[in-house]
Amino acid sequence: MAYSFQVTTYDEYKEAYKKSIEHPEQFWEEIAATFTWKKKWNKVLEWNFAEPDVQWFAGGKLNITENCIDRHLPGRGDSPAIIWEPNNPGEASRIITYNELHRQVCLFAQVLKNNGVSKGDRVCIYMGMIPELAIAMLACARIGAIHSVIFGGFSAQSISDRLQDANAEYIVTCDGAFRGAKDIPLKNIIDDALVSCPFVKRVIVCERTDTPVSMIKGRDVWWQDEILKVQQQGSPDVPAEEMDSEDPLFILYTSGSTGKPKGVVHSIAGYMIHTTYSFVNVFQYQPGDVHFCTADVGWITGHSYILYGVLCAGGTSLMFEGIPTWPDAGRFWEIVQKHQVNVLYTAPTAIRSLMSFGTAPLEGKDLSSLKVLGSVGEPINEEAWHWYNEHIGNKRCPIVDTWWQTETGGILISTLAGVTPMKPSFATLPLPGVQPVLVDENGKELEGNDISGNLCIRFPWPSVIRTTYGDHERCRTAYFATYPNLYFTGDGAYRDEQGLYRITGRVDDVLNVSGHRIGTAEVENAINSHTGVLESAIVGFPHDLKGQGIYAYVILDEPKHDAEQTRKDILQTVTRIIGAIAKPDKIQFVTGLPKTRSGKIMRRILRKIAEGELEQLGDTSTLLDPAIVDEIKEGRL
Ligand code: WTA
Repeated sequence: MAYSFQVTTYDEYKEAYKKSIEHPEQFWEEIAATFTWKKKWNKVLEWNFAEPDVQWFAGGKLNITENCIDRHLPGRGDSPAIIWEPNNPGEASRIITYNELHRQVCLFAQVLKNNGVSKGDRVCIYMGMIPELAIAMLACARIGAIHSVIFGGFSAQSISDRLQDANAEYIVTCDGAFRGAKDIPLKNIIDDALVSCPFVKRVIVCERTDTPVSMIKGRDVWWQDEILKVQQQGSPDVPAEEMDSEDPLFILYTSGSTGKPKGVVHSIAGYMIHTTYSFVNVFQYQPGDVHFCTADVGWITGHSYILYGVLCAGGTSLMFEGIPTWPDAGRFWEIVQKHQVNVLYTAPTAIRSLMSFGTAPLEGKDLSSLKVLGSVGEPINEEAWHWYNEHIGNKRCPIVDTWWQTETGGILISTLAGVTPMKPSFATLPLPGVQPVLVDENGKELEGNDISGNLCIRFPWPSVIRTTYGDHERCRTAYFATYPNLYFTGDGAYRDEQGLYRITGRVDDVLNVSGHRIGTAEVENAINSHTGVLESAIVGFPHDLKGQGIYAYVILDEPKHDAEQTRKDILQTVTRIIGAIAKPDKIQFVTGLPKTRSGKIMRRILRKIAEGELEQLGDTSTLLDPAIVDEIKEGRL
């Protein structure tokens, strides 16, 4: 067995689970001992969900990059750490061995130092999916700076909000990013964001697309030039900064039910241990396997299962710059064949999109290297599950439906490939160390099986969210105050007769569009800032490809002659304020919204209308103006 903490049979799983509940500290301590520490911890766990205050391995000193890189050098220095597949089909792939990764991370760590970055500083990373993105994150971790990666699809306004929230004085970006046939002008977007962020001291720009960019003297420098300067001084071996177990590793912004995105903070040791443990066990990873996670590093899935979990396990991570449907819908399968991919980890929205092209793009593609298939980001519908199983896995690859969140850092509920049971559309069983609980609206625990409720977690796992950056109270109210002594996930779940979990979707005002979390309040705020808009309400509706689409009901201050133009203008405003990912699929103009006498919008009614359920709207007699419901029904898009 390759990893001492890998469970390989159902009995071993049950044994590990039992131990993790009865003796959680001993359970995690044995796993922690397999990592590289500069100094051992004083205490395994201290916790209190009321604050919340969770500390794993307090007093321990370490650096995550020694665990991701240095410790693999003696035996696996020449093994590939990252295999990079470019967006443009004619371009050569790159293979970065652990030795090479070490060299590159040290070089860029020195660049960061030369540019004034030190321990504890926040560094915003806004790049495309190129190896330099991984190198930049690891270089931050090497010197103890806190990275805040922002997905390349966010607008200048979103970036500026995040820069201000984290008071990030340093930025690493690219001239542009290739995504399919598009070239996204990242540096130009950063320049727009920086108009309102005069506190930013340095922007390091990595050349990728040769897009013309403006470089401001004294503020902007080229990645490649800075590396050259360091090389001229002789290649450095930047020592890994000694960090505390509970020091923050990164901030990652995510949407919640209020208007402003939250900066989820993860700490070093717990995150490292949980991502590695879950990676090895869920995917049943074997050294030498090629792991292809198709997420963007700008989301938590990329942080945990392209980067940290995979590299800590000494694995090989395939990083793909492009999109599944460009230049054609066979791209993933070509990559699987070319790089002999063993584990494919993708999202239901990608599967549904590829499914819509039929099986022609699969013809002539050899997928026999695949051993395990994974799914993440949203509930996977049965049709997509079966297509994935039959056409991609050839019915011989276990499918792991992995449920987790930005806030949980790593996978919490999932099948362990080939080890624990699987069931289409079920995430199934908790990982060792994870104690799911279902509660009713009043927080009463629902015991027994064949029951649905709100999903909570009872006991801290190592990579539980530590705080929301700059606003600890927000972390408490969002996750730990709804139900005393429980972490509340915001998801609903069903536990079947066998005790297997099926995630039924969000129970709060958060949508899941193509696996991206979008807060309805955020989109409403964006729409309301459009001139002429009085009020708006956003709900989700079932969408064939995206899982959920965005339906907007909008009240204008006066009827517009050209409704179509107004619609387009509103979409433009949303794109400017948040990014194209938050654009509503449908905008219906209405003269009022169904409100209670106390002024609360009855979203339930709006949701039903958007879903096309026009008959059973429930009791509308408590509404201030019940007639508005008929108007909305008639105007439904
Ligand atoms: C949803 C992504 C059903 C869920 C890792 C959760 C899922 C939100 C699954 C977190 C799954 C994620 N089955 N639903 N396997 N995985 N979700 O923070 O609603 O981007 O709360 O993290 O996605 O999204 P986030």
